Amino acid sequence: MTSSARLRIHRSEASDSAQTFSADVQRGLSSRPKSLPPKYFYDALGSQLFEAICLLPEYYLTRAEDEILATHAEAIIDSLKVTPETVLEFGSGSATKTRWLIEVLLERGRPDLRYVPVDISTAALERSARQLLGKYPTLRIEAYASDYETALARLRTARNGSMLTLFLGSNIGNFDRDEAGRFLRAVRRALRRDDALLVGIDLKKGRELLEAAYDDALGVTAAFNLNLLARINRELDADFDPRAFRHVAIYNEALGRVELYLESARTQRVRIAALAIEVPFERGERIHTENSYKYDLDEISELARQNGFERKSTWFDRQRLFSSNLLLAI
Ligand code: AVI
Repeated sequence: MTSSARLRIHRSEASDSAQTFSADVQRGLSSRPKSLPPKYFYDALGSQLFEAICLLPEYYLTRAEDEILATHAEAIIDSLKVTPETVLEFGSGSATKTRWLIEVLLERGRPDLRYVPVDISTAALERSARQLLGKYPTLRIEAYASDYETALARLRTARNGSMLTLFLGSNIGNFDRDEAGRFLRAVRRALRRDDALLVGIDLKKGRELLEAAYDDALGVTAAFNLNLLARINRELDADFDPRAFRHVAIYNEALGRVELYLESARTQRVRIAALAIEVPFERGERIHTENSYKYDLDEISELARQNGFERKSTWFDRQRLFSSNLLLAI
């Protein structure tokens, strides 16, 4: 079968429509403190900047998880109660680390494996699907360009056969603790007993390593954060001067999360023509753009237990910076 015959991409209009973006920007910039939802980082440029972040020496998360999957993919697949017919991945991005698991499954007598990546970025989905189909000539891909809720709703009605669900890269860390619980419960409702969820979670550690991971020497994370303002300029005809804002990353130890902000370097007013508003900023005023929660093992067990799963096994990289957790649906 040709690559294109093995690929279907479902696009969800509702998920990232211009209207939702406008409404979220209007709400976030008129609230106090100001905030913007991190899902808007991932336009075409933001997705490429995130891929660059994953290559940075300070951003250990991607390399640590890749090491875990490269070393333990067989053990992870051996720990499943049923061999999956479908691998579904939320926030698949470039899907580079997923290949370790896909390869083991293809070799283990599942040549017709179905891979279902879900990602907000259509560009990232198309790029990664093309690469995977070129590399694995029997793999089938059914991709969802949508947010997680839309994909979960589709999944509950459209699933067939046994399924392994992946949520890698510490994407769960971008949810607050209640949202993480709600997400797990929603995934659980789409699974059958004994189906598994493999979730990559960044571990709590010292401030220095964490803050460097989110404020790298080359300024790539700063560009990723500032691109939110450039996106508002592009899509909502605004006049943000990105040079008049500073990227800030702080580890809030009490809450166990790295917080990202854009801090106004001076008193200024920004006009957003498409919303017909002017947004005032004081010098030093911040827009809160992201939280990245870190966990310890007890918190991971608790999160699983409270939301319909049991933490069956956990694998670590050699430096024990990151964890891959196999949660079984109970
Ligand atoms: C996608 N997510 C898991 C990243 C993180 O580490 O929270 C997003 C990111 N933000 C800044 N650097 C990376």
